[in-house]
Amino acid sequence: MGAKFLFVLSLLVCIAEAHRQIQNKLFNVINYGARSDGNTDNSAAFLKAWSDACRWSGKGKATVLIPQGTYMLKEVVFSGPCNAWMNFHIEGLLKAPSDPYSFKNGDWINFRYVNKLTVGGGGILYGQGSSAWKTNDCKKNSNCRSLPITMKFDFITNGYVHDMHSIDSKQSHFVLFGCENMLLRGLKITAPKDSPNTDGIKIGMSKGINISSVNIGTGDDCIAMLSGTRNVRISDVFCGPGHGISVGSLGGNEGEEDIDDIVVKNCTFNGTSNGVRIKSWESQLKKTLVVSNFTYEDIVMNNVQNPIVIDQDYCSHPPCIKKGVSSVQISNVAYKNIRGSGNTKVAASFECSQNKPCQNIRMENINLWPSGHSKKLNNVCLFVKGATYGTQNPPSCIK
Ligand SMILES: *[C@@H]1O[C@H](CO)[C@@H](O)[C@H](O)[C@H]1NC(C)=O
Ligand SMILES: *[C@@H]1O[C@H](CO)[C@@H](O)[C@H](O)[C@H]1NC(C)=O
Ligand SMILES: *[C@@H]1O[C@H](CO)[C@@H](O)[C@H](O)[C@H]1NC(C)=O
Ligand SMILES: *[C@@H]1O[C@H](CO)[C@@H](O)[C@H](O)[C@H]1NC(C)=O
Repeated sequence: MGAKFLFVLSLLVCIAEAHRQIQNKLFNVINYGARSDGNTDNSAAFLKAWSDACRWSGKGKATVLIPQGTYMLKEVVFSGPCNAWMNFHIEGLLKAPSDPYSFKNGDWINFRYVNKLTVGGGGILYGQGSSAWKTNDCKKNSNCRSLPITMKFDFITNGYVHDMHSIDSKQSHFVLFGCENMLLRGLKITAPKDSPNTDGIKIGMSKGINISSVNIGTGDDCIAMLSGTRNVRISDVFCGPGHGISVGSLGGNEGEEDIDDIVVKNCTFNGTSNGVRIKSWESQLKKTLVVSNFTYEDIVMNNVQNPIVIDQDYCSHPPCIKKGVSSVQISNVAYKNIRGSGNTKVAASFECSQNKPCQNIRMENINLWPSGHSKKLNNVCLFVKGATYGTQNPPSCIK
């Protein structure tokens, strides 16, 4: 009798313990005064919900809930460190102020210094970029004012960013800086093809970043990997319209860091200006930057202007002074199973530099044919060393 009682008691204690361990806590922004009328600024309510959630120290997740509805939101910084796993759950539509001059510090929604962060929930981020794009003069003015990024992650570790639709960002949609161990999944990112600098996902000084099942159509790069990006896995990305998946441009400034260990797999480019591109400025820096260990595999190109590009004398805005030297060493880049169509004259263009030729560029089973007004595709090789395997259509110029 006593033994049985003790058994039941310990079972109950176990169940209670398990419950305590998985306990989550909800911080609904409505309870903090948020109003989904599309006009009231909700930044104070969101920040208060965040700060309570961030302070909560239970075992489970602290969920900041934004229920369905349209919420006007001015610029916000959600800062850590926090005690629990933070879950920023957006079911509603967040609307940015349309006036770019109403932003003081730069970006719209900024998460900083959080370890263990989930952001997602099927909601919409509406950047209202169309009036801001007209003020963008970055093509002519190298000191141009930078417009707000829709969602920026600074120094986030162990993050999961999922299931959101970002529309018409004023500048880039999602930016990761100083992040580690993040998964981005199930995102839809859209802006008109002629909207300036509306990159989909931009990564710098970060490592261990995975991106998968993402659909991006914007006016700039679908994904851009900048200085200090390492160990990135990209798969199942649909890109178009846009400027493709890019690495760089590196080499423009002292103090930049290497870009290394990138895999891009099972992606489709549709009507983009570039497919997979590596670009660097001509320059003579104190230290050589290394861009190395890349694999591009199982890629489909539909009517792409420049399907495969390495460009070591990239220059996006004047003055474009020909220096004739590079400080960037590109090596170990594999292109495998790349098929589809290009609508200019060039399928793969490797324009490397004389003082730092591209090393170990490998092409395996490449089948690219002309589309649109193009009659015939060729490849271009300048200072490139490597090898080819399997099908090469058009014929490779790599030796
Ligand atoms: C990224 O993908 C790699 C390989 O598929 C996996 O080992 C790693 O755990 C993933 N990291 C994240 C943060 O999802
Ligand atoms: C990835 O591969 C699957 C299976 O082959 C295919 O159905 C899907 O369209 C691919 N995704 C992209 C973006 O190419
Ligand atoms: C591909 O691009 C063409 C025009 O460039 C567009 O008509 C078509 O809908 C796009 N395909 C997909 C699946 O988005
Ligand atoms: C590239 O990969 C090779 C083989 O895995 C490794 O030895 C090398 O350190 C990597 N290069 C860089 C710059 O990390």
